[in-house]
Amino acid sequence: MSQIERTLSIIKPDAVAAGQSGEILAMIEKAGFRILGMRMVRLRKQQAEGFYAVHRERPFFPNLVSFMTEGPVIVLALEREDAIVKLREVMGATNPANAADGTVRKRFAANIERNCIHGSDAPATAETELRFFFSTSELL
Ligand code: RTP
Ligand code: MG
Repeated sequence: MSQIERTLSIIKPDAVAAGQSGEILAMIEKAGFRILGMRMVRLRKQQAEGFYAVHRERPFFPNLVSFMTEGPVIVLALEREDAIVKLREVMGATNPANAADGTVRKRFAANIERNCIHGSDAPATAETELRFFFSTSELL
C-alpha cells in the first residue's frame, strides 16, 4: 500500500548557479509533490560533511563536499504518496549518462559528481535529513 511520505531534496549548487531551480521546482510540483518547506542556504564545510557522512570513506567525498559548498543550494521538504521513491524517479540515476529521459539529471546534470539534485534514499534517511534542515514546527 502506498502512503503519504515526506522526503528531503536539495537543488545543488550547479543547478542553482545555472538558473535551473525554477524548472526543477516545476518538475517536482508537476510530479505531484507538495512543498512543505523551502530555503536557500550556503552550506558550510562541516554541514556538507555531516549531511553526507555516510560517504566519508569514499574516494569522491572531498569533491562532493567541495561541490556542495561552492554556492547556495535550495533545500526542500516535500510530501506526496511514496515520496521517497517518486522523488528518486523524478531525479533520475546518479550518473546522468544512465538517467532516464525526462528526469532532472538527464535534462540538466553534467556528470556523476555535478548532478543537480539530491533526494533522500530511504524512510530513515528522509527523517534524519528533514531534521537536518527543518524543525518539526516548520513543517506542520
Ligand atoms: P544524492 O545522495 O545526492 O541524492 O545522490 P545519489 O543518492 O544518487 O548518489 P550517492 O551514491 O548517494 O552519492 C552522493 C553524491 O556524491 C556524488 N558522487 N560522486 N564520483 C563518483 O563516483 C560519485 N558518486 C557519487 C554525487 O554528487 C552523488 O549525487
Ligand atoms: Mg544518496
